[in-house]
Amino acid sequence: MEEKFTAFFDSGVGGLALLGEFCKRFPGERCIYYGDNANAPYGNRPHAEICFLAEKAFAEISRYPIKAALIACNTVTAECVEEMRKKYTFPIVGIEPAIKPAALSFPGGKVLLLATRATLQSERMEKLLSEYSAAADLIPYCPQELAGAVEKNIFDLEKIPLAEHLPKGEVDAVVLGCTHYSFLRKKIESWFACPVFDGIAATVRRLAIVANICSENDRKTVKNGLFFMGSGAKKNKSVFETMN
Ligand code: DGL
Repeated sequence: MEEKFTAFFDSGVGGLALLGEFCKRFPGERCIYYGDNANAPYGNRPHAEICFLAEKAFAEISRYPIKAALIACNTVTAECVEEMRKKYTFPIVGIEPAIKPAALSFPGGKVLLLATRATLQSERMEKLLSEYSAAADLIPYCPQELAGAVEKNIFDLEKIPLAEHLPKGEVDAVVLGCTHYSFLRKKIESWFACPVFDGIAATVRRLAIVANICSENDRKTVKNGLFFMGSGAKKNKSVFETMN
């Protein structure tokens, strides 16, 4: 039987955190990672442009035998996961900000949600926020240049001045609603001195269910067949290789 790939798509390096988590859990799986680094960041672009770029990426991905695809990008999920699901027959999972676990863990607390402009302005986000606004005080904030700064300085994250990107004030929890921010997870955790939620582990678990990967493989089994594609193939490969 033809072996199929699990595909990951992000505007750039952000989704590599999800690919990394997936590869740790399922080292025998074959994966494709499509990063559109030439067009990153997506988050300040209009809806039509984001959908156009996502469509181009999926057209490329769908040339391969695909088990399931993960939109490892909150922005693309917010803007066009439904459109992609209508167009393709393989299952498509999206990542969404982990508002639910954060709000339920800190009832009545202040929960800061960091996400891109497109994500925060989307209908999906409006729904998600209204669903949990009674549980906690949700504070959406868009650090407009942060995803671009991570994309540009991925090999030198120390260069990113958090004070210029993050809002002031004390909060009880932070939700990282953009996969690029997860590279700064530890720094953001100590900046606000509170727990940070990124939804990565839960999204990977969901992907495994949808892709029908039933058990976590023995860590000693063969390494993943990994295939980096898109405009930043080389860059993403070398970021991935230095991640663990
Ligand atoms: N990593 C993406 C996200 O999760 C996109 C960031 C961007 O390209 O602006 O939203």
